[in-house]
Amino acid sequence: MRILTWLTRNDVPTDRRIVDLGCGNGMMLVELAREGFTELTGVDYSESAIDLCKSILSSQSMHDVKLEVADLTGKNIPNSLGKFDIALDKGTYDAISLTPEDAQTSRTAYVRNVAAILENGGLFIITSCNWTEAELVKQFSSAFRRKHTIPTPSFNFGGKTGNVVSSVVFEKLST
Ligand SMILES: C[S@@+](CC[C@H](N)C(=O)[O-])C[C@H]1O[C@@H](n2cnc3c(N)ncnc32)[C@H](O)[C@@H]1O
Repeated sequence: MRILTWLTRNDVPTDRRIVDLGCGNGMMLVELAREGFTELTGVDYSESAIDLCKSILSSQSMHDVKLEVADLTGKNIPNSLGKFDIALDKGTYDAISLTPEDAQTSRTAYVRNVAAILENGGLFIITSCNWTEAELVKQFSSAFRRKHTIPTPSFNFGGKTGNVVSSVVFEKLST
């Protein structure tokens, strides 16, 4: 898993508060817990995803992972969520971008909410199949600056090189 490799290669301390945004069935959380990360939270707006996540984590005896149902495109993010050092997104911004009604408003709210739950200087690590790195840099520029690009497989087509997936590490700008 590229994200996990990036975190461990960059010696990210295992007590950093990490939130997986749109955690789905929680596989990322399982991998992080296996790697020794201790301050983990998963958020998803789907109650059934959170229920499934709960049962997968408890089957692995991972009882310390916090889970919360929340809409990350809502007007305000619940205070109960707290603040984080690192936020991970794998496919969630992509899903939000496909919202049938007013995807632009949802995307803007998402950027604002992710910034609100991160400490200044905190990291937002996003993996997207929909957006290029340049597009992500532009869309998150109100609150984030690109810190690093995680290498992903590339392809050549018509003399141009592109990436199937973009994986970018952003740093939250000080507010
Ligand atoms: C493509 S799935 C990715 C799941 C997981 N991150 C993974 O890599 O397997 C997108 C996830 O984002 C969640 N999601 C979509 N829109 C959301 C929103 N507005 N707020 C919170 N979660 C959302 C979905 O329920 C789903 O679990």
